[in-house]
Formats: sequence, C-alpha cells, structure tokens
Amino acid sequence: MSVGSKRVSLTQYLVEQQRNHGLIPSQLRLLIEVVARACKSIAISVNKGALGEVLGTAGSENVQGEIQKKLDIIANEVLIEANEWGGHLAAMASEEMEGIYVVPNRFPQGEYLLMFDPLDGSSNIDVNVSIGTIFSVLKKPGDSKGVSEDDFLQPGTAQAAAGYCVYGPQTTLVLTVGAGVAMFTLDREQGSWVLTADEVQVPADTKEFAINMSNMRHWAPPMKRYIDECLAGKTGVRGKDFNMRWIASMVADVHRILTRGGVFMYPWDQREPEKAGKLRLMYEANPMAFLIEQAGGAATNGQTRIMELQPTKLHERVAVMLGSKHEVERITAYHLEAG
Ligand code: AHG
Ligand code: MN
Ligand code: MN
Ligand code: MN
Repeated sequence: MSVGSKRVSLTQYLVEQQRNHGLIPSQLRLLIEVVARACKSIAISVNKGALGEVLGTAGSENVQGEIQKKLDIIANEVLIEANEWGGHLAAMASEEMEGIYVVPNRFPQGEYLLMFDPLDGSSNIDVNVSIGTIFSVLKKPGDSKGVSEDDFLQPGTAQAAAGYCVYGPQTTLVLTVGAGVAMFTLDREQGSWVLTADEVQVPADTKEFAINMSNMRHWAPPMKRYIDECLAGKTGVRGKDFNMRWIASMVADVHRILTRGGVFMYPWDQREPEKAGKLRLMYEANPMAFLIEQAGGAATNGQTRIMELQPTKLHERVAVMLGSKHEVERITAYHLEAG
C-alpha cells in the first residue's frame, strides 16, 4: 500500500519495527542496514555498465557449474567486505562460494548467519535488463560451538529476515522481518532508502503467469496441465485469458508479482531428474517464499510449502511455484493429484 507523502527512511522503519513489534534486535537492525548499504555499492557498479570494468565473464566457474560474470564476483566481494567486520555475523554463504565464509578471528563474532545470491539474473547483465541481489538471515543455533555449514541447514520458517534489491529503472530494496513486506526506493540525490510501499499484498487471483516456456517438453504432466489450461484461455476450463511474462531474473519476476500479482514457476525438469529444480533453496527460494507469504501469497515446490523443507546441503536445488495464492494452490493440487 502507498505510504503517503511523509518520507520514512530505512533506519526509521527498522527502529519502528523494533519499538512496535520487538522484532528487530539491534544486531539484526545493524545487519540489515549494512546489507542495504552494500546493495547501494552494487547498484553503483551495475549502473556503470560498459563504462566500468563490470560487464562480461570472469573466466571462472562457480560451484553450480555456471560461468561467473564479473558482476557476480564484484557483488559477492562487496557483500563479504561490508558484512565481515560489523560484529553481527558468525558466517556467510553465497551462490558464488562453495563453502561458508566464517568471519575472521580479527573481528567479533555475531549471532546471525547471512546467505545471499549476490547477483541474480546474471544472464541479463550484458543486455541491460533488471537484475538483483537476494539475501536471507538466520540465527546461529545457540548450542553450536564455532560455526559450520550445518548451522545454515535450517528450514525457511527459521528466517529472521529476508529481502532483495532490484537494480532496474528504480533501485528498490524489498524487505520483511516477519511483520509484512516493505519497499524502499533509493533516492540517488541523497543516497538514502525511502519507504515507498508498506504492507504489500499479492492479489490471491491473477491472469499472469511466469515460466520459461522453452522447457515445456521437459516438464512433469501436472505442470503441462496447468500451463495448457492457462493457454486455452477463456474458452478453456479457466474461463479467462492469461498473459505471460518471463524476465529470467527471479528478482524482477517476483517484484512484478509483489507489485501486481501473478504466479512464477521454475519446475522440475526431466533433463536433470536428480535435481529438484534449477533454483537454489537457501538463497533464492526461501527468501522469496518468506516475502511472498508475508504479502499473503503462497510458495510450494509443487507438493510442500517451500519454507517447511528441511535443507540437507548448502546449495540444494528446489522446484518453485510462488505468487498469487489461488494459482499456487491449483498448481500444487494438480501435482498432489498426480502423486
Ligand atoms: P542466477 O543469475 O543468480 O544464477 O539466477 C538465475 C535464475 C533466476 O534468476 C531466473 O529466474 C532463472 O535463473 C532463469 O532461468 P532460465 O535462464 O533457465 O530461464
Ligand atoms: Mn548464477
Ligand atoms: Mn539467482
Ligand atoms: Mn546469482
């Protein structure tokens, strides 16, 4: 919902959440503000484009087997350097790093764990299409000495905060700490985040779906059934025509859904049957599921609520169906019916 003309900063919003909901211990507030500041730095690099040394590939491969873009690595380094000294984190994990990054001994250890996809939508970097950064915050289990990868293997319901920054026509930070979803637009003149939407709600119904249609022949039958019904339009069982959007940056597709509704799907694919899907549970699906649920939407892997899945490894893949509640319920029902 719009927030009227009064300018509320990110800090003021976080202090009010702390005061009104007791949801944000000061270490978490500091962590969120540091991540937001890091996103501003990443936005500056993103916006340089061909004028900076930020386009093209870095000539290396990440643990996912993807060729890394220069901006994947730049964004990863910005987030590590911004967060390691503050005393609010014990360790970090990233799409672009195989193992966890434990805060060096020269810095105080904090109680939080930060996971991130430093640059989401890498295939769009060189063609000037919206990209983003996704982050998820967990608390380190109290009983663990030191910190290990196992400490990160918590279900999405344990997240203390989650959000993304979308680098598009506007640079917008979208955040939840468990009391709804707020959006902050970067005021470039002042370099400050200004609250531009609060208590964001995803409409339960929609006429817009997002999926990479080129993979249709590789989907499981329930996925094909749902999409065929959307394509049949008003003469089919759905009785309405659908529109389609696929930006290939999850942050941009999810931002559109948070803004006007819709359903996003990246289903299981028979080409890599051992993988549950393409997207990563810990730093793509879980943070986006938290945001979508906080905005009244739903997020499943076709069978189960994404945030209830128990992770078994850091870079675990998952099928993702998220967005307008009634559509996700329908897709999930089709998958459960098919067994
Ligand atoms: P990343 O760039 O962080 O590896 O993520 C890309 C993901 C996600 O952002 C997007 O929805 C999806 O990959 C697009 O996949 P296709 O290129 O197969 O459509
Ligand atoms: Mn990638
Ligand atoms: Mn991604
Ligand atoms: Mn990425």
